[in-house]
Amino acid sequence: MAVVLKSAQEIEKMRRAGKVVREVLELVRDHVKPGATTLDLEKVAEKRIAELGAKPAFKGYHGYPCVLCTSINSEVVHGIPSKKRVLKEGDIVSVDCGAVIDGFFGDAAITVPVGEKIAPDTERLLKVTEASLQRAIETVKPGATLGDIGAAVQGVVEAEGFSVVRDFVGHGIGSHMHEDPQVPNFGLAGQGMKLRAGMVIAIEPMVNAGKPGVRVLKDGWTAVTNDGSMSAHFEHTVAVTDTGARILTD
Ligand code: MF3
Ligand code: CO
Repeated sequence: MAVVLKSAQEIEKMRRAGKVVREVLELVRDHVKPGATTLDLEKVAEKRIAELGAKPAFKGYHGYPCVLCTSINSEVVHGIPSKKRVLKEGDIVSVDCGAVIDGFFGDAAITVPVGEKIAPDTERLLKVTEASLQRAIETVKPGATLGDIGAAVQGVVEAEGFSVVRDFVGHGIGSHMHEDPQVPNFGLAGQGMKLRAGMVIAIEPMVNAGKPGVRVLKDGWTAVTNDGSMSAHFEHTVAVTDTGARILTD
């Protein structure tokens, strides 16, 4: 599949979807507390997406059962909300949400601490992962390359002794949640496809406190770190404009 450039009008639709995703994520953040279950978060999100006149992007996607992915601690991505999963003080939970409006998608993720105190290294993992996303977004402009994005993420992450997950990548996004190109969180500056105005991509660093290896559990979805280390995930949907990046999910 080739890269599909978006018109200004299409990007406005994606902005509307992006705003829904942001509002839902911030609402879910407010509900993250010790004793809450990840199914509680799912219910809050499902209701709000409907109220905002959007459709969830994930539910039914390749059979995925929910509107959110909720991934706790050593879970990297694609954790399935469940009433059996009770959040506790010191945990971290990654919340990933996608929405569709008028046929166009928005996709974003945050990782949230549970309660008041998390371990200092875990706090640092969250800060560094978010910073790696911001640094990657700063590289975005016409003529920059996918390698510039990957190298930016990797540089920030590895300077702190953490590692970038390689088995999952970011992606183009538009009238489908996943479009070309793939957007790896590792690479070499100057290499790979050049960005053009009108491209829209989801940049989504997944960062492990330990080694980069991950595996998928028997549920067929939940990806976890092989070494049991903590993992964080932040994601924005970003349009390439003549002057640089426009974040559609802030
Ligand atoms: N944001 C993720 C992605 O871009 C989650 C979607 S996977 C789903 O791949 F199956 F849960 F929808
Ligand atoms: Co995504």
